[in-house]
Amino acid sequence: MRLDQSTWYEIETYLENSGGIIIPTGSTEQHGPMGVIGTDAICAEEIANRGAKIAKALVAPVLAYTPAPFNMDFPGTISISEPLFEAMVVEIIEGLAHHGLSQIYFLNGHGANIAPIERAASHFPNVQFKIASWWSSDVVNKLRQELYGDWEGMHATPSEISITQAIGRKIKPGIAKEPPEKLSANFTKQHAGDRHGEAGDHRKQFPDGRVGSHSALAKAEHGQALLDAASVALAEDYAVFVAGE
Ligand code: NI
Repeated sequence: MRLDQSTWYEIETYLENSGGIIIPTGSTEQHGPMGVIGTDAICAEEIANRGAKIAKALVAPVLAYTPAPFNMDFPGTISISEPLFEAMVVEIIEGLAHHGLSQIYFLNGHGANIAPIERAASHFPNVQFKIASWWSSDVVNKLRQELYGDWEGMHATPSEISITQAIGRKIKPGIAKEPPEKLSANFTKQHAGDRHGEAGDHRKQFPDGRVGSHSALAKAEHGQALLDAASVALAEDYAVFVAGE
């Protein structure tokens, strides 16, 4: 049930039985030579909508403007500062809690969102939160590993690009036909949660925008399988979350 497609009467009725809501969070940033700028937002929104349908949950509009300062040297990226994003999330939670939505599940699609969302959530001791990225459930992780192994990488991943291909554009690989530079285990660990450096250095280090991800392995059929797995995983995890288990 989509909040933006519901009337206030319908929301009032929903609130009689549930205080739960799913909020998808993405980004507006470069995703390499064959990934669209909205990739993170598109993936999170689609999985949230599908998962919410299965779980009969309410789903909020996607938060697509988020922090991505390290990608600002790539045209098309729009980055919101962490304090502003955090403040916006605080006010969104206030709004939801005001209406009795006190079980809030963030379905994330962009690593850099997690820390500011966690900080925002810490202001609300009486609201229950879950913050999970769509790729992090066991079943989706296993599927990504089977499909791409280490070539999943960190950014412009074949899995996220497969999802955008399944529901939208398929772009020819061009220079992304060749695999990117392989990341070391140490790099992956140090840069988890999109802890990348200054924009100029980031583009110099990853000139085509891929960070260890072999985007050209993406296929629309993979995207369908990933969407199915991720939306079922979300619905199941959401059910556990709202049951307070
Ligand atoms: Ni992404």
